[in-house]
Amino acid sequence: MDLEVMNGLLRPKSIAVIGASNTEGKIGYSVVRSLIEGGYEGPVYPINPKSNEIQGFKAYKSVLDVPGEIDAAAIVVPAKFVPQVTRECGEKGVKGLIVIASGFSEIGRADLETQTVEIAHEYGMRVLGPNIVGILSNSDKCNASFAPFLPLPGKAALVSQSGALFIAMDASTYIRRVGFDKMISIGNMSDVNFGDTVSWLDQDESTGCISLYIEGLKDGRRFMENALTASKPIIALKSGTSAHGAAAAASHTGSLAGSGKVYDAAFEQAGVVRASDLNNLFDRTLAMSLQPPMQGDSLLIVTNGGGVGVLATDSAERYGIPLRFAPEDVQAELRKYMPEFGSARNPVDLTGMAGRDWYQVSVQYSFAHDWVDGLVVLYCETAMTDPQDIAEGIKAAVDGSGVTDKPIAVSFVGGERSEAAMRWLVENGIPAYNEPDTAVNAMASLREYARNQNAAQSFVRNEDVDEAAARAVIANVRSEGDRAMTEIESKAIFEAYGLPVAHTRLATTEDEAVAKAVAANGPVVLKIVSPDILHKSDAGGVKVNVEGEEAVRKYFREILANAKAYKPDADIHGIAVQEMAPWGTEVILGSVNDATFGPAVMFGLGGIFVEILKDVTFRVAPVSPEQSLKMLSDINGAPILEGARGETPKDRKALAEVLSRYSQMIDDLGDEILETDANPVIVYDEGDGVCIVDARIILKAE
Ligand code: COA
Repeated sequence: MDLEVMNGLLRPKSIAVIGASNTEGKIGYSVVRSLIEGGYEGPVYPINPKSNEIQGFKAYKSVLDVPGEIDAAAIVVPAKFVPQVTRECGEKGVKGLIVIASGFSEIGRADLETQTVEIAHEYGMRVLGPNIVGILSNSDKCNASFAPFLPLPGKAALVSQSGALFIAMDASTYIRRVGFDKMISIGNMSDVNFGDTVSWLDQDESTGCISLYIEGLKDGRRFMENALTASKPIIALKSGTSAHGAAAAASHTGSLAGSGKVYDAAFEQAGVVRASDLNNLFDRTLAMSLQPPMQGDSLLIVTNGGGVGVLATDSAERYGIPLRFAPEDVQAELRKYMPEFGSARNPVDLTGMAGRDWYQVSVQYSFAHDWVDGLVVLYCETAMTDPQDIAEGIKAAVDGSGVTDKPIAVSFVGGERSEAAMRWLVENGIPAYNEPDTAVNAMASLREYARNQNAAQSFVRNEDVDEAAARAVIANVRSEGDRAMTEIESKAIFEAYGLPVAHTRLATTEDEAVAKAVAANGPVVLKIVSPDILHKSDAGGVKVNVEGEEAVRKYFREILANAKAYKPDADIHGIAVQEMAPWGTEVILGSVNDATFGPAVMFGLGGIFVEILKDVTFRVAPVSPEQSLKMLSDINGAPILEGARGETPKDRKALAEVLSRYSQMIDDLGDEILETDANPVIVYDEGDGVCIVDARIILKAE
């Protein structure tokens, strides 16, 4: 990232408005007006071929006529003129273009967009948009947009792909009391994308946390890398997560992936916290911009009402931080500040008799206690207490505790006095919400952030893999035209990556099949091998548990006959003789090549778990063995592998290792492989390993 150029674009010291206008109602009028009303202190250069003066500023016919330097140009001329004015900006030495104009790729004119970006890059300029509202920065008093005003000042930053929502969210900051320093409308992302803005905001000293409204990422991998290296919390609201398009997927895994599951995985892997809707985005942003992450699972709730305490307890469980009883020393101390009928366990119920003093001492004591990782303070308005008094007590307690590395969130339930007290709390750095559930959810976001940060793992490549051998198999298949890969070929690639496939060898004659069956030293499976028959069972092309020469010969002939009857012109390579894998717990591994994130790996329990319950989890590849272990715990059926109901635990360690190698395979070969399936994969008892019984690789179309 060229910081000087990005600063010129997003914190411009001088601005040209190309297409500035004196005609009220035009966007070119509004942008100049916004700069004036926002209090922008740098020079503003309106550009208009017909006017000498616009809204009190001297106007110029072209940026080339402007005497001073120009950092950013806001472009509000019709799309067809944008490439031309972009070139003039380049000649002038402008750093960044804020292309507000619409009429580009969103209406099928991607050519105009590409042309604009190409010209801009010729001159080293960056392009924000097109099809955007503009940029807002409180610390620069810069409203270079057609949004009517700057947002409520604060420490968060917001990047929005939707223009209409951008303006609406700007306005709603005043009602929601969530403050932003910067808002960036990102539109078509022809050049500057989410990853760029995340990296830039991460180094921006006025930004405390980064909130994103995302419809679709363009370069998912780059976004993940930029998000992973960011040191500030990132919260994303992603719209359009329904499984649209999944039906067209070529494989089982593809149809399970949908678009949402891979996004979910990618965000988690990149340490990005999710928001479920707009309210949630603001609520979580408030907490993230004011409080540190919650490093640990011990959440303490302090309340004056049993009802809100129970509600918050339910919420804590729902959001993944179930409450535990406070240790004895904490309980003993807290009991001093409550009547007999209070409770010091957790939630700590100070009872309705609690006034400022009890709140203050108990909050101060518990916030400072080592056991407590995060604190949620609840208050129900009562006749005997003044909400403002309680708020001030909480703030004094936080300050008095000297703690700055743990989070606190507050919820007051009541009327106008409570609302006013909560506003005061927020202004004083303590996030406050009118629902206990929201306060707990906000706390959960701080916990998720810490967890995601800690789980971020770098991938260490397995060096004992033979990528060249795998590529040779692919090249051989490709050399025979557009044909499917057989099981034997797929397994050869799996083996090149050290994956434990069931020993499977191709026999082209009956005698060969017998010899291979004898060598297997036990019952075998016979399967048809043909690129034209992928659903082998449907073709009568599979026989299991075949033992003895006579049976091998009989079924060899039978399978061949079945296959020929099923598809007379099928290209038959022969029959696979595979050792019978002893039975164990059946799981499935799969992969897709996601349009946004590239190769992604899937894991689930096999059989009905995957067919009916769709109990699967995804990660963007590659994943380390540690991340793979986490995948195994992610699914609902996890206890089955862990050894539920007295069963012996399964070999999760070996399975995680397999998953990690598998993910490396699909990542290394991502340019060739579209989808893969390893189904079934048998997992044995702890220490006894894993066996991949069947494997399938679907290549990308050439
Ligand atoms: N250089 C400088 N000024 C130019 C120019 C050029 N090459 N060509 C035209 N202009 C002037 C015009 O003379 C006009 O000024 P005037 O009012 O003094 O006559 C001004 O620029 C605007 O041009 P005009 O042709 O009147 O266009 P417009 O104002 O009707 O629309 C856009 C221009 C960019 C606003 C419009 O095309 C558009 O894209 N609207 C949608 C924008 C949007 O919603 N974006 C966000 C989506 S979330």
